[in-house]
This record gives sequence, C-alpha cells and structure tokens, in this order.
Amino acid sequence: MKRILIVGNWKMNLTIHEASLLVKRLSDHIPVHRDIEVVLAPSMLALQPISREIDQRKFHLAAQNAYYKDEGAYTGEVSFTMLRGIADYVLVGHSERRIYFNESLDTICNKVQAAIRNDITPILCIGENKHERESGETKRVLHDQLTTAIANLTEDEVERVVIAYEPVWAISTFGNGIPAKPDEIHAAIKWIRSILGDLYGEQMATDMRVIYGASVDTEFVPSILGLEGIDGLLPGAASLNYAKFAGIVEAAYKMLHSGQKS
Ligand code: PGA
Repeated sequence: MKRILIVGNWKMNLTIHEASLLVKRLSDHIPVHRDIEVVLAPSMLALQPISREIDQRKFHLAAQNAYYKDEGAYTGEVSFTMLRGIADYVLVGHSERRIYFNESLDTICNKVQAAIRNDITPILCIGENKHERESGETKRVLHDQLTTAIANLTEDEVERVVIAYEPVWAISTFGNGIPAKPDEIHAAIKWIRSILGDLYGEQMATDMRVIYGASVDTEFVPSILGLEGIDGLLPGAASLNYAKFAGIVEAAYKMLHSGQKS
C-alpha cells in the first residue's frame, strides 16, 4: 500500500522566522501518521534552518527549485547537489517556473535527471493551461510534458519520479480557487498512467505515485483523494495556513481510515 503524499508548496512566501513559526504550529497540529507522508516546501533560504527544526517522523522537506548543473560558475543558482541531505524532494516543472522563468522542456528534463543523479525525488509538475484546455489539447500537453521530462531516465529511475497533475487554469493564482472537477482530474490521471503504461507496462504505471495540485483545500480532499489512481495532494495557498494544512492532512487520514480510499 502506497503512503498518501501531501506536499505543501509555500512558494515565495514567509521569512525564515515566519516559516519557523509555521513549522511549530504544524507540528502541534499534525500527528505522526504511518500511512501519510507530509512534505513541506519552504523557500530556499528557509530550507536549511527548518531542516534542523522539524520532527522527521512528521515532515520531510522539498525544495521548490534547483539548478541542474552540480557546481560551477552559475551566479545565483543552487544545485541539487547542495540540497542533498537537506531536501528529500524537489518540485520540477511547476507552471510558475515554466511561465515566469521560461523553463523549457529541455531544462525540465535536465532538472529531473539532476535530481535523480543526486538522490532527490523530483515531483514533476505537469498541466495544461486554459487555452490548451479550451482547444482540446490537454492530452497532447500532458503527453509532451511528461515524456520529454523523463526521456533521459532509465526505467528504474523513472519509477522514483512523483508526477503532480496541476491544471494551470485551476491553480489559485491563475484561476478562481476552485479545483478541477473530479471527473476531469480522474480523466487526466488515467491518461498520465496510460502513457506510463504504454512506455513501461501496467505494473509500473500502477506503482508510480501520481498526485493532484491546484486549489486544494480541506473541503475538496474527500472528492479528490477518493478518486482512483490519486496518491496525494499538492496544495499551495492552503499550505500557508496551519489550520487548513493540518485539516487537509486530517481529512486524508479520515478518508484512509473510513475505507473510502481506493
Ligand atoms: P494552489 O497552488 O493550491 O494555491 O492553487 C498549487 C500549486 O501551485 O502548487
């Protein structure tokens, strides 16, 4: 049985001090759950101090980004190598990085490879934007973003990647704070797994972790997490509020233990 993965993407929010306060609050409100893995993604600056403060039975850490070269003359960048021992996960291909920082499919492919090379699990974010959705291109976009990102990995390496379906139009900052409808999420997750199935076989497609992000909040947890094939959630805005984030974890726990999770 896979553990449910819940990743809070704090984006470019909170000073080191504020981040530390949030971790304390979360620690007070989130118990250790054997079947749920909770991951926090603070800013690059807060990662290291927080890595010393967290109760590692409760939380793991993710970086929100890193550069794909291991070291060298790349002013201003932080490499995956530097994150070893601090972060277990790194977000790669988030739509904000694709849109605001012009990250190309090639860059994302290099970052996924660098994460694996440095023993950090990439959380590969893929998702169509509003225009692509309205012109019926969702499947093509998901296919292209997924296959190009994992193109240079061996099968064993691919299996370690977490895929996050994040429809750009539903992310709180781009959309209206309402997640995609459960049937839309289900169709996308099914499509992602079918791409993996064609490439690597059914077993691997079932075993890999695929999660959903975009306007996740406590009230939506049962309808999203109850869908077949969803292994977790990636909330952004809601993860900055300790009560909401703890509520998301609690709702996931309740689902698991009420037998509603397939
Ligand atoms: P949101 O962000 O939950 O605020 O929509 C999700 C994300 O961008 O990862």
